[in-house]
Amino acid sequence: MKNEEKVRASSRRLPREKLIAAAAKALERAVAPYSKFKVGAALLTKGGEIISGANVESASYGLTCCAERVALFNALTGGKRDFVAVAVVARVPGGPMPCGACRQLLAEYAPAAKVWVADSRAPGRIREFKVRELLPSAFVIP
Ligand code: THU
Repeated sequence: MKNEEKVRASSRRLPREKLIAAAAKALERAVAPYSKFKVGAALLTKGGEIISGANVESASYGLTCCAERVALFNALTGGKRDFVAVAVVARVPGGPMPCGACRQLLAEYAPAAKVWVADSRAPGRIREFKVRELLPSAFVIP
């Protein structure tokens, strides 16, 4: 690989690692007293902004909100749009896969985003998915 190609490759890798690091940092603020399963998520906008969130649990279990949705609602209500990627981190082999509900929300508000997931113990090992492949034929109101 030529030097300039190496530079290009590493600058392409950079946002992935940066976003995973932001999700890992958000994970520290997870409020998960029941499951003890902490999840962090971070969204990257086209303009390079990063908005994060973590899961928040309730004693009424069904009220729990996933990290991806907390991050997404945080971003949307902060006026952010045009998401290019979302990173999700938790202490789980291979990284956490977004649940079905989060996939629906991502399909609606971040359809073009790449989904990067990583185990918090191995943040350099990032797996990549597309929102569309995680939820083909998402629900839409006709
Ligand atoms: N959780 C997330 O934050 N994201 C997911 O995609 C799946 C699950 C959270 C919700 C709950 O606080 C904990 O993980 C255990 O289900």
